[in-house]
Amino acid sequence: MLRLIMLGPPGAGKGTQAKRLAERFAIPHISTGDRLRAGIRAGTALGVKAKEYMDAGCLVPDDVIIGLVQERLNQADCANGFLLDGFPRTVKQAEALDIAGVMIDHVIDMEVPDDDVVVRLSGRSVCPSCGTVFHLTLSSPKKEGICDKCGAKLIVRDDDKEDTVRNRLRVYHRSTAPLIAFYEEKGLLRRLDAVGTVDDVFNGILRLVEVG
Ligand code: AP5
Repeated sequence: MLRLIMLGPPGAGKGTQAKRLAERFAIPHISTGDRLRAGIRAGTALGVKAKEYMDAGCLVPDDVIIGLVQERLNQADCANGFLLDGFPRTVKQAEALDIAGVMIDHVIDMEVPDDDVVVRLSGRSVCPSCGTVFHLTLSSPKKEGICDKCGAKLIVRDDDKEDTVRNRLRVYHRSTAPLIAFYEEKGLLRRLDAVGTVDDVFNGILRLVEVG
């Protein structure tokens, strides 16, 4: 049983590591960002509502997100653990988990300076089909614009423009960073310098999870 939260600024590598950890521990990877983007692509009511907030680099309202995550956590495959990527992002969202009686084992706080975030996000491309994440120079696909894993055409996210990234960082520092103290008080916070290679960061997380 492993119940993880990945915390950190945009571009910290939460999605990259979450994918590997979910495979390693055979637990579902629950990404609120991926779920919202899927809604936008499919043109659902959720997607239509979320799009204007996401394009501006703002947070989607708490009530929309909390319902979405609670519904997902109630599904049978979460009974033996899960990995939350991008949730909670406000103290209200974290309190909603407590109120619902959701237990957490570790909160991994991935620390990356703002300037590194801008470099990482300005070169990112993602696979809309299998979710694999690439970077123009830091981890480029073997064939330009094509996913190494499934062969789909890679896309660049609408919210990775520099102005929007800067706003996402402001929103992170204002609304999400307070969760560091929130989880530190509960004894669940595991701090990690997330500036190394993807493998180094992955091994660092494994050590934190094993030591507890
Ligand atoms: P979301 O999709 O959650 O985006 P985010 O938190 O801003 O994080 P990112 O996905 O941008 O980055 P990441 O940390 O996953 O990094 P990645 O692994 O891709 O949310 C998007 C929007 O949805 C929000 O702005 C908001 O509007 C809305 N939303 C979502 N959840 C919400 C919630 N709970 N409440 C309200 N609104 C919500 O890596 C980034 C790049 O760096 C890649 O190119 C990668 O290849 C590269 N990279 C990764 N690791 C390394 C490394 N170690 N070294 C070098 N490069 C690396």
